[in-house]
Amino acid sequence: MLRAAAGDAGRAYKQQLLDLLDLQAGQTVLDVGCGPGTDLPALAQRVGDGGTVIGVDRDPDMLARARERTNDLRRVEIREGDVHALPVEPGTVDRAKIDRVLMHVADPVGALAQLQRATRPGARIGLAEPDWDTLIVDAEDLETSRAFTRYTTAEVVRHATIGRSLARFAEQAGFCVETVLATTPVFRDFQEADHTLGLGRNMQQAINEGRIDRDRGHRWFADLPQGPFYASFTLVSVICSR
Ligand SMILES: C[S@@+](CC[C@H](N)C(=O)[O-])C[C@H]1O[C@@H](n2cnc3c(N)ncnc32)[C@H](O)[C@@H]1O
Repeated sequence: MLRAAAGDAGRAYKQQLLDLLDLQAGQTVLDVGCGPGTDLPALAQRVGDGGTVIGVDRDPDMLARARERTNDLRRVEIREGDVHALPVEPGTVDRAKIDRVLMHVADPVGALAQLQRATRPGARIGLAEPDWDTLIVDAEDLETSRAFTRYTTAEVVRHATIGRSLARFAEQAGFCVETVLATTPVFRDFQEADHTLGLGRNMQQAINEGRIDRDRGHRWFADLPQGPFYASFTLVSVICSR
């Protein structure tokens, strides 16, 4: 669902988040909800042979892919676990990141409080979450584009507007917020947008649930690849310290 990491659109904010984490050689860094391990090699490179990278995810398929991606990297540990009960010794982590995970979890502030527990005083934490109210798709049928965004926000993602609340949630969990940034990946390629944003899949779901008229929804989707394409959404990144 809403696989927003791959492709050019996702690379810029990830690079920025890693830079702002200011990783140092020898540190212990935690990637919560590491998924298929996309960022683990870059984290390992930054902390070097003397450092430790811990990737945590609750999905066994993701963990298998993360292990495959990092099996030749020393000091990378992949652990099965949940953000609400992190499998990490308290006070042992120097740097941590959570990238597009909190939007899915039951209790985002509780998950951040877990991160407080896992990190050392002075630790730096990077968070990135989208705000799906900002999803815009260019189409002649503007009302159906708006209906699609409303449906995505209401039904597809659990905490769809978490991006705007991320800094507040971090403060509620006891972190000191240092930097708040917004980046807007732009999609000019219909196929990439459809793959990443689930345009066809979520429109079909909205139609099946009677939230968008069948003919209008099908016409909207069929028209999208016909001309120059534009879609974008905004991701909010927060850097905070403990
Ligand atoms: C959109 S992916 C992001 C993956 C990775 N952070 C990245 O940037 O490529 C969301 C990941 O969060 C994981 N996830 C969702 N809820 C979780 C939870 N409660 N505890 C641990 N992982 C969770 C999913 O299994 C999935 O791998």
